[in-house]
Amino acid sequence: MKPEILLVCQMNPHVMATLERDYEVRHYWQADDPEAFLREVGPGIRGIATSGHHGAGAAMMAACPKLEIISSYGVGYDAVDVPEARTRGVLVTNTPDVLNEDVSNLAIALLLDVTRRVSAGDRYVRGGKWHEADMPLARSLHGKTLGVLGLGRIGKLIARKAEVFGCEVAYHGRRQQEDQPYRFFASLVELAAASDFLVVICPGGQETEKLVGRAVLDALGPEGILVNVARGSVVDEPALVAALEEGRLGGAGLDVFVAEPQVPEALLAMEQVVLQPHRGSATVETRHAMGELMLDNLKAHFEGRAVLTPVT
Ligand code: NAP
Ligand code: 8YV
Repeated sequence: MKPEILLVCQMNPHVMATLERDYEVRHYWQADDPEAFLREVGPGIRGIATSGHHGAGAAMMAACPKLEIISSYGVGYDAVDVPEARTRGVLVTNTPDVLNEDVSNLAIALLLDVTRRVSAGDRYVRGGKWHEADMPLARSLHGKTLGVLGLGRIGKLIARKAEVFGCEVAYHGRRQQEDQPYRFFASLVELAAASDFLVVICPGGQETEKLVGRAVLDALGPEGILVNVARGSVVDEPALVAALEEGRLGGAGLDVFVAEPQVPEALLAMEQVVLQPHRGSATVETRHAMGELMLDNLKAHFEGRAVLTPVT
């Protein structure tokens, strides 16, 4: 008997095909009435395959009394109710490290795009404006200070890559990391005040909700640039929109939003803002590696071995 798996969302074809081969897959994402579907299939479910976006909540776990493991596709697990899983003795796994390079690259790409106005320049040429006048000058990365909120696996790579572009790096987290060469700020507002650019790359969830609010944005200032590749929840979105509208913040590069795929209407018209549809890990190579790790965690568990990347 193959273990029964609840597949919460559609995944890449390789992952879907492997799941179909090795498990009895119950396609939650195709259900017209998800609650009724859970009542019907929940009693047999032993594993949940989900994504960092879709997660798994308490009600879903309650509907699956034989649940043993939640294997999530993504490193961020703020959408999984981890305390509830712990209470129920359910393992949770994620996909750390395999996406560090591509997510850090997108952070740098957004930083370069907002400062050098790459997307704006593209619109300028396509819109025929070059014939009328030269585009206004952009800003240089070189010699500037980059503040990193969350100097973790991805944050450290962003820091190293920013150094190559001539940035000085400083950071904020809950604690100083003695083995890191960068200046630590115990206060996020003080980090923002000392930075030209602030890159957000800490986890989402209650603990970091709206950590970047008006005080941080004002400290970053009218020439400052915010890049968010973490979670929309970490930034106070209305405060960000207001700061950009009022010129209290210079620009922003945003990959993540509070209510994805919805993006605040006001941002769509702003030339100083670059928007991405949550694409940090979205390359063929990285998404393949994430899928493999998600599958390997399930396989290890159902073969009675230790999972590779448990959420501790
Ligand atoms: P990580 O290695 O766990 O690093 C997280 C960092 O955040 C740590 O340095 C931690 O430092 C800091 N941090 C945690 N809680 C904090 C708090 N309350 N206040 C301030 N700093 C805090 O995680 P990672 O692998 O680099 O991933 C980071 C996040 O990026 C993920 O959780 C995910 O949400 C997001 N992400 C987004 C994309 C995308 O597609 N846009 C892709 C991958 C990941 P301390 O412990 O010292 O506080
Ligand atoms: C994924 C992410 O796009 O890993 C994460 O935390 O945000 C991204 O890599 C996401 O998990 C898939 O929904």
